[in-house]
Amino acid sequence: MNPRFYLVGLRATGKSTVGRLLAKRLNWAFFDTDEEVERRTGLTIREVFSQKGEAVFRELESEVLLSMSRQTPAVIATGGGIVLSESNRQLLKQTGRVLWLHAPPAILWQRMQADPTTSSRRPNLAAGGVAELESLAQARTPLYEEVAHEDFDTSSRIPEAIVEEIVNRCRISY
Ligand code: S3P
Repeated sequence: MNPRFYLVGLRATGKSTVGRLLAKRLNWAFFDTDEEVERRTGLTIREVFSQKGEAVFRELESEVLLSMSRQTPAVIATGGGIVLSESNRQLLKQTGRVLWLHAPPAILWQRMQADPTTSSRRPNLAAGGVAELESLAQARTPLYEEVAHEDFDTSSRIPEAIVEEIVNRCRISY
């Protein structure tokens, strides 16, 4: 297997928090596609969307993913919409172990409301509250399922416990 884990899932599923802890636990490098887009453009993701548009953001996101797919050993947290592109999905599946983090939309909504800093840096994907998150989950679940090698319910456990489950489960399965 490639010594590379990708974390995918909707916003607020814990990708960056769990990813950082997992990287520390394994002593691997940690990367975050959103952070790298922000670093390269000097803009927040929200500004990239408003000033350049979503299509430009998606192109940048794919470029960043491609460059990160050459890093090893690495844990890579991705933006929630990374799976919208067919070529990103192929790249994810072929170059690492893909871990899908998920939780019910009501829980994601609570977490988003409790984290105004992250929300202020992101475009309003769920301005319509839980209902909008539910429809995003419905639209994207088949895409996450398509790429995921393993999936983890993050609704009721602390990030450290999820990291332990990842380490144990992934050791067993390969
Ligand atoms: C997006 C999720 C965001 C960010 C952008 C688009 C999406 O990342 O990439 O705002 O389409 O779901 P997080 O999942 O890290 O919030």
